Amino acid sequence: MSRMRVGDLVKHGTEAGALVAVTAYDYAFARLADQAGADILLVGDSLGMVVQGEETTLPVTLEHMVYHTRCVVRGRERALVVADLPFRAYKAGPGQALDSAARLMAEGGAEMVKLEGGAPMVDTVAFLSERDIPVMGHLGLTPQSVHQLGGFRVQGRDADGAARLVEEALDLERAGARALVLEAVPRTVAARVREAVGIPVIGIGAGPDCDGQVLVINDILGMDERGQPRFARRYLDGAGQVRDAIGAFCRDVRAGAFPDDEHSFD
Ligand code: KIV
Repeated sequence: MSRMRVGDLVKHGTEAGALVAVTAYDYAFARLADQAGADILLVGDSLGMVVQGEETTLPVTLEHMVYHTRCVVRGRERALVVADLPFRAYKAGPGQALDSAARLMAEGGAEMVKLEGGAPMVDTVAFLSERDIPVMGHLGLTPQSVHQLGGFRVQGRDADGAARLVEEALDLERAGARALVLEAVPRTVAARVREAVGIPVIGIGAGPDCDGQVLVINDILGMDERGQPRFARRYLDGAGQVRDAIGAFCRDVRAGAFPDDEHSFD
């Protein structure tokens, strides 16, 4: 299968169907997600929460993102690698965003960057796009605004909020965004946004009427038993299976059953 390119991000997904995006943070899981057929590997700043154990994505630095993007790129064969601009690395203005995005691409190897926000980000999206940096927008529940939003809540529930989402999506598209993540909005609102814009809308907690879907890999794999967003489906009891495997290793070592002859050198 040929490599996914930014130009392959079209409405209605790929020939195979809807676009599929999965977050990835390291080489091993990037490789598996790529082999499993994901179209996009998103190096999300969600790594702050699921890899680093932070309460929010806010502490994630540009250095962290460059490092994890490089690891993911090494594991990728086909998928497009998109990297998040972290909170502190673009909100000061277009110049800061350009420097940070350039590092994610030149040092990290990302082919596209994602940033959160609507109206206040339009100039930045235009600035980056005009300078050959493909941008993915992110509207709805934007986790970097968690304190401003008053928590991780569904967005666009009232008429004004829904209309604003449609307007902001159009503004981002006009500014040059090549795709849009829409997070935690009512499905009818997602359908309106998708209808309004000509770029693909990738939903997460936005219902089925999108051009693609994205989930955090740790949620797909059930790695955190403390719970996960209502919109995420768990495809594996990862936490249980990993713990059982490590538990078996602990028991084998303590019982003198490992290492055995097969795993020892003469
Ligand atoms: O950081 C992230 O993983 C994301 C996805 C949840 C879309 O932005």
